[in-house]
Amino acid sequence: TRPLAIGVAGLGTVGAGVLKLLRDNAGIIAARAGRPIAVTAVAARDRSRDRGVPLDGLRWYEDPVALAGDDKVDVVVELIGGSDGPAKGLVEAALAAGKPVVTANKALLALHGGALAEKADTAGVTLAFEAAVAGGIPAIKGLREGLAANNIARVTGILNGTCNYILTCMRDQGREFADVLAEAQKLGYAEADPSFDIDGVDAAHKLAILAALAFGRPVDFSAVHVEGIRNVTALDIKLAEELGYRIKLLGIAQAVDGGISTRVHPCMVPVSHPIAVVDGVYNAVVAEGDFVGRVVLEGRGAGAGPTASAVVADLIDIARNRATPVWGASAAALSNTPAVPMDQH
Ligand code: NDP
Ligand code: HSE
Repeated sequence: TRPLAIGVAGLGTVGAGVLKLLRDNAGIIAARAGRPIAVTAVAARDRSRDRGVPLDGLRWYEDPVALAGDDKVDVVVELIGGSDGPAKGLVEAALAAGKPVVTANKALLALHGGALAEKADTAGVTLAFEAAVAGGIPAIKGLREGLAANNIARVTGILNGTCNYILTCMRDQGREFADVLAEAQKLGYAEADPSFDIDGVDAAHKLAILAALAFGRPVDFSAVHVEGIRNVTALDIKLAEELGYRIKLLGIAQAVDGGISTRVHPCMVPVSHPIAVVDGVYNAVVAEGDFVGRVVLEGRGAGAGPTASAVVADLIDIARNRATPVWGASAAALSNTPAVPMDQH
């Protein structure tokens, strides 16, 4: 069978991780995809940089948008980042060219997910984004497919690995905030601009995506209440411990009278709660459905390996022609359901 030819834009932490995973697990991936998945083209800025994976024989683009026009690329994988600029241009160009897209870009989806979903619907192609929320946890599939039959009352999560890592190391090792943040950057957990992590914006992007899936429509990102961990001190953490609580940065989306409340802020979580013990770079997503009850998903939320795992899962779905509409139902079907107003809390 002809391999599925993919073009990967962005060869940083996640992009290089995807190339490594496709190489190291090629056999099992081909078996599950029904055919080999082969990288044929890549895009990044610095051609001389060692990425830790061989790039010989791959077509190289300095302009990522041009990758969409490569007629030997079947699927475009966007791993550049940023809600606008080349990442958005590439995704739009790929969808316009009728090519499926896989992205890990939560900022792009949180801000432009509605418009991009319409473009994907119109083109009749997949826009897949498992890696955009909670790294290696199958949170998108879990919520959109696994819990598809439920009315969801609430989704809660530890959605940023960098913040959870910082809070854990401050608590357990008595380390300084800035020192742990620098380590998280070195480990490839943090965003290119780490203020997105520590100010809660990255968690808010992910929460907006989860809320859109849980409640069946794109969310107005400007209505999400956002507060980060910049002002959490070692003393706050210690006092919380003494009272039987852990401080966690949580994202919470819930149905409230007449709308949906979406908020991200540090919370005191009782040590008896299952997510209080989710530490380090681990994330957790807790969904509450009317028939299923509470479902807790946990796993590593950032870093090359977990994120690549989610990106390649999407590629396997595409190779198998398994497609699900972006927000779980077609735009036409959603327009027949009652509108849910947004409500800022
Ligand atoms: P990096 O900063 O490590 O990598 C970004 C890549 O994009 C680099 O290879 C860079 O090229 C390339 N790039 C940036 N701007 C351009 C441009 N204008 N033209 C061409 N190439 C460009 O980011 P990550 O790998 O960490 O993240 C990628 C995406 O995945 C982001 O959307 C991020 O939010 C998301 N994500 C990241 C996770 C993580 O744990 N790191 C987890 C889940 C999602 P060059 O190398 O030449 O500079
Ligand atoms: N910077 C993000 C985090 C990467 O720390 O969670 C994973 O989305």
